Amino acid sequence: MAVSLYSKAGVSKAAGALKTCGSACWADELIEIAKTGSHRAGDEIMKAENRCSRENIYRAAEAMDNANSEMADPNQTTNLLSKNKLVEQGRKCFNLRSKSECMTSKKALALLKAYESRNVTFIAPDGSWPIVWERARGVRVWDADGRAYLDLTAAFGVAAAGHANPRVVAAARRQAGRLLHAMGDVHPHALKAMLAGELSRLTYGRWHRRHPDCCRAGKVIFCNSGFESVEAALKTAMLATGKPGVIVFEGAYHGLGYGALNATHRTFFRGPFCSQLAGFGHFVQFPLQAGQLDAVANAIRVLFGRHGIGAILVEPVQVRGGVRVPATGFLRLLRRLADEHKAVLILDEIYTGFGRTGAWFACEHENVVPDIICLGKALTGGFPLSASVGRADLMDAAWPASSGEAIHTSTFLGHPVGCAMALAQIEEIRARNLPARSAQLGKELLAALSELRASRLRLEARGCGLLAGVELRRHDGAPAASETMSIIVQMLRRGFVLLPEGEHANVISFTPPLIISGRQLMAAVNALQSVLRDVEMAG
Ligand SMILES: Cc1ncc(COP(=O)(O)O)c(C=O)c1O
Repeated sequence: MAVSLYSKAGVSKAAGALKTCGSACWADELIEIAKTGSHRAGDEIMKAENRCSRENIYRAAEAMDNANSEMADPNQTTNLLSKNKLVEQGRKCFNLRSKSECMTSKKALALLKAYESRNVTFIAPDGSWPIVWERARGVRVWDADGRAYLDLTAAFGVAAAGHANPRVVAAARRQAGRLLHAMGDVHPHALKAMLAGELSRLTYGRWHRRHPDCCRAGKVIFCNSGFESVEAALKTAMLATGKPGVIVFEGAYHGLGYGALNATHRTFFRGPFCSQLAGFGHFVQFPLQAGQLDAVANAIRVLFGRHGIGAILVEPVQVRGGVRVPATGFLRLLRRLADEHKAVLILDEIYTGFGRTGAWFACEHENVVPDIICLGKALTGGFPLSASVGRADLMDAAWPASSGEAIHTSTFLGHPVGCAMALAQIEEIRARNLPARSAQLGKELLAALSELRASRLRLEARGCGLLAGVELRRHDGAPAASETMSIIVQMLRRGFVLLPEGEHANVISFTPPLIISGRQLMAAVNALQSVLRDVEMAG
């Protein structure tokens, strides 16, 4: 019977899920069954319909599904009769549409083509890209046609604790039913205060223990998208120093709002809007090798001498720039230069924060404390909430106390559902020690990616924690952009979601949920090696 495929780990996870939903009694029973062998567990779950709510059963089925995703092939688990029955019951309970009621991918894409601005979604005429996401859980995504995929992107790094993490979803549900919207900068809600305190503890509170000279608390400006938190940091630096210039780096990506765009490097994004940009960003080389650090230091000193520079803004690893890891010592150098010139050091950790690089924040690898840190993406696990967290003394010096009208605010500032999710997400990352897991699995991933071979392409693997990239070049050194996209499309066909990064889109990036297993990572790397072979044969 299909249920015998459920592993002991799967059953324990299902039991855990039931416990969190308050069905401790039945969960304990299930654990006992799991201890003796997993054969009966599936039957027991079926019987449990009489004892537990459908929501609990749905969660149990999903948890088992996630546990079973230890199996390398993402489609292997989808035929399990009993699991599908359970999920169908859960669907009914949540009013989720069953497969036959869902809009097909084809229909959804046709609607987008007709009614969404055509610059947003690339739709390949041959139907090979994109897929239409219908639901996601853990490291898995299902498309509108019912196909399962292993997500190696965490959807731009957001789903660090897994898609629809039960703790995060429960927090969102609770909060949505209680208070769906509050009054940003006027009448606050308690969760915003709690999250501000948590972010202060997680950053300056922790950093102060290692650096007693550093401020012991941070103060927060909540925003919606990542780029807005960068803009809040830039405004803070302007208010604190009175100097408009900002040192930024080639290859940088800080978002596409009219403020952040001054600091985003790629001509593709800036070009059409250059005439409307203030142009306060001064670009300097992003040093990849130790030998480049002196030249970078000199260039920065020259800029400090020539312009009124109030801030240095940098990503500890350029992710959208092509997973570019700078030379060791770079952040320490920037800290020194900022101190020398009384400038504000802003670290954009929107992608690298919350364990992605194998530490809570990437600056911790170099023991550097920034003056402001920008956070977003994984902060909530799936809600548009971001934050600019600055040294409390700097923030108080920069921003006057509110007189009833805030200089910087927005309608949805500190959204209650986003705050509830962020608190749950941080708790989940902490409880599962995901930064350490990211460090360990990242080493294995990088070692495996470094073994990839393609006779017609030059490959270079690099990364830090569960943030890795493989750059593809032809033998003459030209970026292998079309090959990269073709490989990513073929990986999608095999059930693996990946993204291209870099100015030439010739870097395959890996930013999976930090809960991914080693086996799943290796299954993806093996598939990539096989696709690389196919591409070569086709070429
Ligand atoms: C480092 C970094 N900063 C800022 C942003 C912009 O964030 P958002 O797209 O949420 O505005 C991104 C987005 O990828 C990013 O990677």
